[in-house]
Amino acid sequence: MAYELFDKRSSIYSDRTSTTMINDLVRTTRWNIGFQPYDGWWRRHRRLMHTSFHPKAVEAFHLIQVKHTRNLLRRLLHSPERYTRHIMHTAGAIIMRRMVSTFNLRMTLLGKCPKGPRYDNEIYIPVWVPGAEFQRKVASWRQVTKDMLELPFSETKRRMGQGNTELSFVSSNLSELDIRTTKDIDDEEIIKNTAMTIFIGGNDTTVHTIRAFVLAMALYPEVQKKPQQEIDDVLGLQRLPEVADMDTLPYVMGVCKESL
Ligand code: HEM
Repeated sequence: MAYELFDKRSSIYSDRTSTTMINDLVRTTRWNIGFQPYDGWWRRHRRLMHTSFHPKAVEAFHLIQVKHTRNLLRRLLHSPERYTRHIMHTAGAIIMRRMVSTFNLRMTLLGKCPKGPRYDNEIYIPVWVPGAEFQRKVASWRQVTKDMLELPFSETKRRMGQGNTELSFVSSNLSELDIRTTKDIDDEEIIKNTAMTIFIGGNDTTVHTIRAFVLAMALYPEVQKKPQQEIDDVLGLQRLPEVADMDTLPYVMGVCKESL
């Protein structure tokens, strides 16, 4: 039945639900892939995203992931009680090197934005009507979304203009757009939207998965000993694990997959 509905009749059953607050009031659907309806606009974003996020392409992130993981280990060693902060820093640093603290603050604000359909009837009430204070919140959430969208993108463009060649999703796609002969007027917007969605989608999800892992290891110390033993046996206390060691550490990989 799942095959029948999701594969054979995918054109009717691939859309997602919408909520008044997110879709109509804060209006993130134009920019955020995670809220876009299943249509041609969404498809153009997904196509662009896929160029950098298929299994082969993500290998390009391995170096930076290892580097930031080592930094995380060092931080955890010095102040283990601040582990949430360290994990947040690492996830943000991997997905976007700059502007991490400002954005975590803004994400917290956006997290407070109610997702349910509570606002169906109030949508057209102007802000000056008593009881319509939520419209002020809508305005601030809309600003948060706009800032997350615009600031990193314009900063990247500014740096590119100054000859900075640091490689990123935005810089490489903009450079490619520059040399392309056929362009659409909204090509640049799609790059910007996709970059923002990747940051929003890849940050909290990663942080809370790792926090769940920490919790699980604290609750089940007898399980924690097994991946530790495997790492010590395979690497012989000589070095830290690398991406290339994944195949020789099946129990560690099992723990990672179970956390996900
Ligand atoms: C443990 C980590 C993650 C979890 C649990 C997770 C969960 C989800 C879920 C449940 C959705 C579907 C939302 C819906 O339509 O109802 C989603 C969509 C999405 N996620 Fe993740 N995610 C994770 C990591 C990431 C990362 C690392 C990225 C980016 C690098 C990312 C980018 C996206 C994007 C772009 C979408 C929208 C896809 C589309 O609508 O076509 N996610 N995620």
